[in-house]
Amino acid sequence: MNILIKNATVITSKESFNSDIYISDGKIVQLRKSLNILEPIDKIIDASGYYIFPGGIDPHVHMHLPTPAGFSADDFESGSKAALMGGTTTLIDFVTPHKGQSLIDALIQRNSEVKNCLCDYSFHVSPVEWTKKTELDIKDCIESGITSFKVYMAYKDSIGLNDDAILKVMQVVGKAGGIVTLHCESSDEIEKLRNELAKNDNLIPEFHSVSRPDYTESEAVQMAIGMAKMANCPIYIVHTSCAKSIQYIEEAQKSEQEVYSETCPQYLLLNDSKYIGDFKDTAKYVMSPPLRKKEDQNALWTSISKGVVKTIGTDHCPFNLVQKEKGINDFRKIPNGAGGVEHRMKLLFSYGVLQNRINYNQFVDITSTQAAKIFGLYPQKGEIAIGSDADLLIWNPKTENTISVQDHYQNCDLEIYEGAKTYGTPEIVILNGEIVVENGELVSEKKGRFLKREVNK
Ligand code: URP
Ligand code: ZN
Repeated sequence: MNILIKNATVITSKESFNSDIYISDGKIVQLRKSLNILEPIDKIIDASGYYIFPGGIDPHVHMHLPTPAGFSADDFESGSKAALMGGTTTLIDFVTPHKGQSLIDALIQRNSEVKNCLCDYSFHVSPVEWTKKTELDIKDCIESGITSFKVYMAYKDSIGLNDDAILKVMQVVGKAGGIVTLHCESSDEIEKLRNELAKNDNLIPEFHSVSRPDYTESEAVQMAIGMAKMANCPIYIVHTSCAKSIQYIEEAQKSEQEVYSETCPQYLLLNDSKYIGDFKDTAKYVMSPPLRKKEDQNALWTSISKGVVKTIGTDHCPFNLVQKEKGINDFRKIPNGAGGVEHRMKLLFSYGVLQNRINYNQFVDITSTQAAKIFGLYPQKGEIAIGSDADLLIWNPKTENTISVQDHYQNCDLEIYEGAKTYGTPEIVILNGEIVVENGELVSEKKGRFLKREVNK
């Protein structure tokens, strides 16, 4: 398909400029003012009054995640549709083997689950134990184009790793030129607090947050940074939620250690007052780490503007009320997680750009470009330049919406942003040079592609 976008205000992570954009065969092939195209054009779009952003990249989603309460409510098809409707064109999900399963077998299984994904995608692979095969498996994953690995310091009774195993993963991945991403929460301390709360019959959702205080995150962050230094491995801290963690991350960055940090819209926009109320109104906010204090939100916004926090993922992992109700008598049984992939771009535009916390270029940087750079997708993704994939959002800044469970595309009967006002919408979404969303409708069922990545040499 050949598309000509006229009169565009192009926003990249570095600059803003007026230009026409010519797209052919899935790529951006020309980029300058007043283009005169001689070959046949399938569609001309007049983008006067609109912004053109690169398609969003969400580096942290959990579609079809198995848990004791059943699979997370979005599979790859419904979750990727919600992502596209919100302007996210690339997803990075996870491959999480069960114990005894090799990383490669788990990857093969995940490849069959991802077939209906409408976004382009990749995975982070999670070793859940260290075996004789893990080193080879990691190298095989890298050969297959997966260069990032996720370890959980939390959840030691299931998918979490002990420090010794984490260090080994870091040593192997660091040497191979990959990156380790970490869920930083101190499993043992949280287990101790959970048991104490349970002993005293403190089992409503509010105590989920009490059982995971900020220091359980920041101490794990400090530990992770120390191990990564020892192993000489770049790391990426997922869902950073509190000021104390930011301090350690900033210190490490100042000492030139390669430490990246992600936060999520829920930690920027919601706080722990959400845990006060009925089960139905509070259980939807049960996620790990939990929502924090207003001071933490402020610290996160500041750290974004300073470039300490580099990316915004969503940790999209929604569960329906009936699933959350597995923990109606015991918060420890509530499946952890909430949806957000559909709203990330609009929330960051509305509460970041329009409230002057970040500028337009920073918006692009944190929602797209940095994730592409950190995870080896740049400049194919995350950029508007000749030769880049034509993943573009034609963004109408003038619309007004209210987020509601009644009309969201996420496949879930709960909505943590219920009632939030947003301004601006990706009226047209282009993925690999094809229009996939137009006038608020999904207009293509074309499947996304696996994105093969390469390590830093
Ligand atoms: O509560 C969360 N974050 N659920 C998703 C799984 C995880 O811990 O990342
Ligand atoms: Zn997650």
